[in-house]
Amino acid sequence: MIDRFPPVTRIPHLLHGGDYNPEQWSPRKYPDLWDQDMRLMKLAGVNIVSVGIFSWAQLEPLEGRFDFGWLDRILDLLAEHGIAANLATPSGAKPNWMAAKYPQIRRVTADGHRDLQGGRHNHCYTSPVYRAKVKKINTRLAQRYKDHPALAMWHISNEYGGECHCDLCKEAFRAWLRKRYRTLEELNHAWWTTFWSHRYQDWSQIELIDRSVHGLVLDWKRFVTDQTVDFMRHEIEPLRRLTPGIPITTNMMGTYPGLNYWKFRDVCDVVCWDSYPGWHTESEMKTASWTAFVHDLNRSLKRRPFLLMESTPSQVNWQQVSPLKRPGLHRTASLQAVAHGADAVMYFQWRKSRGSAEKFHGAVVDHVGHEHTRVFQEVAALGADLKKLDGLVGASNPVETAIIYDWENGWALEAEQGPRNTNKDYARTCSRDFYDPLWKHHVPVDIIDMDQELAPYRLVIAPMLYMVRPGVAQRLQTFVERGGTLVTTYFSGLVNESDLCFLDGFPGPLKPVLGIWAEETDVLPDDREQMVVPAAGHPLGLKARYAARHYCDLIHVKGDQVRVLATYGRDFYAGRPALTVNPLGCGQAYYIASRNDQRFCDDFMAGLIRQLKLRRNWAGTTPPGVSVQRRNNGKQDFLFFLNFTDAPRTIRLNRPTLRDALTGKKAGAALKLPPYGSAVLAS
Ligand code: GLA
Ligand code: ZN
Repeated sequence: MIDRFPPVTRIPHLLHGGDYNPEQWSPRKYPDLWDQDMRLMKLAGVNIVSVGIFSWAQLEPLEGRFDFGWLDRILDLLAEHGIAANLATPSGAKPNWMAAKYPQIRRVTADGHRDLQGGRHNHCYTSPVYRAKVKKINTRLAQRYKDHPALAMWHISNEYGGECHCDLCKEAFRAWLRKRYRTLEELNHAWWTTFWSHRYQDWSQIELIDRSVHGLVLDWKRFVTDQTVDFMRHEIEPLRRLTPGIPITTNMMGTYPGLNYWKFRDVCDVVCWDSYPGWHTESEMKTASWTAFVHDLNRSLKRRPFLLMESTPSQVNWQQVSPLKRPGLHRTASLQAVAHGADAVMYFQWRKSRGSAEKFHGAVVDHVGHEHTRVFQEVAALGADLKKLDGLVGASNPVETAIIYDWENGWALEAEQGPRNTNKDYARTCSRDFYDPLWKHHVPVDIIDMDQELAPYRLVIAPMLYMVRPGVAQRLQTFVERGGTLVTTYFSGLVNESDLCFLDGFPGPLKPVLGIWAEETDVLPDDREQMVVPAAGHPLGLKARYAARHYCDLIHVKGDQVRVLATYGRDFYAGRPALTVNPLGCGQAYYIASRNDQRFCDDFMAGLIRQLKLRRNWAGTTPPGVSVQRRNNGKQDFLFFLNFTDAPRTIRLNRPTLRDALTGKKAGAALKLPPYGSAVLAS
């Protein structure tokens, strides 16, 4: 594991800033406002802003008529004030003249309806006209600003997403399919189209009109990702050519189901995401744990630090109810991102817009326009803190455990029509049942997909691994034989990469590593429970009886070595195995046959942590609601103590080498955190 990565920009500090839209505030109507912005940015400790994200209509007000004057002025102002520019390409929203003159660039819905102009993110990714227009404006931006001292990073488009069903996209999909399957015969087999007479006789018949063909649904989603990545490659071509030293990023949306973000890993120099946890709408611990999961996912995409590109300094405007962040929580939530590997805390938005859809979305500078607000003061205090944490830039998060959360698997699970078509809860199972217990024990985790290298890990958890792509089972087996511990669950090993069922017994290619055969799956209505009874002398220390819900696999033990660690307690399959472990080579593979209650998940994971002696960020005890994360830069360890409760918390330290990373003062025997408070200690 590399301890420290180079900074993503030329800035050797943690980045602090956000989306900045000065073009909404023309100096003719709002004189001095831009100067005010600079003054306030300095006060808030801002060192980078994202500019030009939705500025196409300002940059090219008429076709071929460019106006860069305002942007020149802004970039100069930023440079004068020592603030870097994360310069955006404007493709996230197209100007009205373009939509009117070239209607073919407007998106078409699945039922064939062409969108009207309006909103944003509504263009066709395939359209040669749109691609040409994007390339032209991006080339102009790169030519003009390639040597500008403010230019530090490219922010490509904005939150790529959605899909288009125009004729061009359909043609592109068919070409994509020809490449994948070569012959219609192969495609018809992979999609099992003889069923209900769905066979294609000609490529031109293929379009996404039939969601009963699961292979088609899956391939369409794969295509949408590939086409979006292709569009991004097209966008960045002039930037790579003209500004080879400037890093490129595009802001992602966590577990957004529309795109497989793993495919963006090689196009981006740095990964970033927009995080909007619903604080104060459910239990803070649940929100914090889920957010931690997604931060870890973003760090894992490149296995190096990422950027928190957007977060709100206060409320959002698109949730049903968006309470104010309670005092202290902004700092703790921001430091949580840093703790999980972010080298930036950035906001949407710098200044609240005056009109339109986001006028009530939180911002650093409110409509009142000055710095004497609670939110501004909290942001500025955080900015001052971040300035003292240069040692964290590039620091790694040492990890021994990975959870497989795989987009394609999620798509396939979502599409399949099976014994349970509600509460399949793939993401929730990964995050709540398996990630959360690790997080509560301060065990650091990577979130990977099933194609990633497994050698760095000692424990790999693959919940609901319904789809097993070619080569994956073998890699999992090698991982176990070499000493790794694998945990997988019910509803695994059912289909291949085309959603075709494995024919030689479930869990398909995972049978050898698990040493079991899953003959049937019982599913329980939401108000019914099964019971799981641990075997005596349980190696993981499970003693209680646990409730199982939703899914119960009925399995047979096949391997000689396999141990049954728990059995079902009720119904006609009482006494049959509910939890098994297969010792294989130097490692072991667990199969959890049913979806068990949180108590089981907590006890099981705690048992594993003990058994494997997994390294925890903090081995001492902590009061409930406190998360501890760790980063290391090769010289120093940084420990983040984050209190997600509305009560003060005290942590016994007993580590004489620890110092407060902000003040340099020796930490005492006890660390006192105020409600929603946090501390960064270094040793
Ligand atoms: C997204 C977008 C921003 C803004 C925020 C509001 O993340 O990228 O432009 O609309 O949502 O929360
Ligand atoms: Zn299209």
